Amino acid sequence: RKIYVLNGPNINMLGTREPEIYGYDTLDDIAERMEDAAARAHVELDFRQSNHEGHLVDWLQEAQAESVHAVILNAAAFTHTSVAIHDAIKGIAVPVIEVHLSNPHKRDEFRHKSYVGMAAKGTIAGFGALSYMLALEAALEL
Ligand code: DQA
Repeated sequence: RKIYVLNGPNINMLGTREPEIYGYDTLDDIAERMEDAAARAHVELDFRQSNHEGHLVDWLQEAQAESVHAVILNAAAFTHTSVAIHDAIKGIAVPVIEVHLSNPHKRDEFRHKSYVGMAAKGTIAGFGALSYMLALEAALEL
């Protein structure tokens, strides 16, 4: 079984980017922690990040073509803007789990709407790096 973990714009800056909101863990720290848990569960993780919307669309389509077990997706700012990502999620049978480090509902009004959440299987948000671990746990149960 294989699970994709897809990350959108500015997530490569974790650790130094607004740490009071996103915490001090880097994306590599999160990837490492997830890899450990995935190995214990005998699943393969494919961990990716891009600042480009189209890459996320391509990767969602690839998840379908590769019959991936599940996708864990932090679309970051594209969460709140991208009809293309919404449509890509709708267009595949692979379950997509939306994750966020922060809780967007506690933040700016423009973060309250999620085009990802409207198409995803479910959402985990607000637990920092732990959000990713909880999403992995959910993905393994699907
Ligand atoms: C985020 C929340 C988004 O609103 C924001 O644009 C991000 C990160 C999160 O993980 O908390 O870049 O997706």
